[in-house]
Amino acid sequence: MTVRIAPSILSADFARLADAVAEAEAGGADWVHVDVMDGHFVPNITIGVPVVAALRRVTKLPLDVHLMIEQPERFVDAFVDAGADWLTVHQEASVHLHRTVERIRQLGAHPGVSINPATPTSVLHEILPYVDLVLVMSVNPGFGGQRFIPTSSAKIAALRQQLDERGLWPIELEVDGGITPETAGDVVAAGATVLVAGAAVFNDRSTVAENIRRLRAATGVPAGS
Ligand code: DX5
Ligand code: ZN
Repeated sequence: MTVRIAPSILSADFARLADAVAEAEAGGADWVHVDVMDGHFVPNITIGVPVVAALRRVTKLPLDVHLMIEQPERFVDAFVDAGADWLTVHQEASVHLHRTVERIRQLGAHPGVSINPATPTSVLHEILPYVDLVLVMSVNPGFGGQRFIPTSSAKIAALRQQLDERGLWPIELEVDGGITPETAGDVVAAGATVLVAGAAVFNDRSTVAENIRRLRAATGVPAGS
């Protein structure tokens, strides 16, 4: 089993994003997680298409773009053009979700679907065979540095069981929000395969490389295994 670490640049210094991504890459990050917020779906505004295009030029790591925006179907072409390798939309934000994920795949990126903490896993039943990634939000999206919502582990375990029972095991099961060395072990035990971490990676307490090393150690799964 492989567990990927995806540092979220939301907690990095936006004035020196290229350095932050270089530190993450050198420190053993597997993906770069990019949080796009529109001030409508979530109560915050962050970054958009030009920043994804700029990041694409400075890293070889896969760009894991998380759209926390309403009607994401309006922007999927632009984000894939800009260089998103994985493009995740929220189930709550896209009425014609199947069309949206099929469009992402047609464009050549890996489609993902995300659910908020109050959204049950059951809403994903029909869409699972069409996506490459499911993202369980373990905080209410909008801000970095929040506390992990403990019931998220049971949602991950329920999805893991569904994916395994239905033979959909190649789908990545990603968790985002409040992931630290204290919470990483539980979510991996529940079946998560990709851990997003912002504040636990980009902070003043330690280097990016050391923070990634601690997170990976907490998963109990060595890199590349
Ligand atoms: C929250 C974002 C997350 C955020 C996670 O809305 O989707 O990706 O950066 O930050 P931490 O790891 O600090 O909870
Ligand atoms: Zn995110």
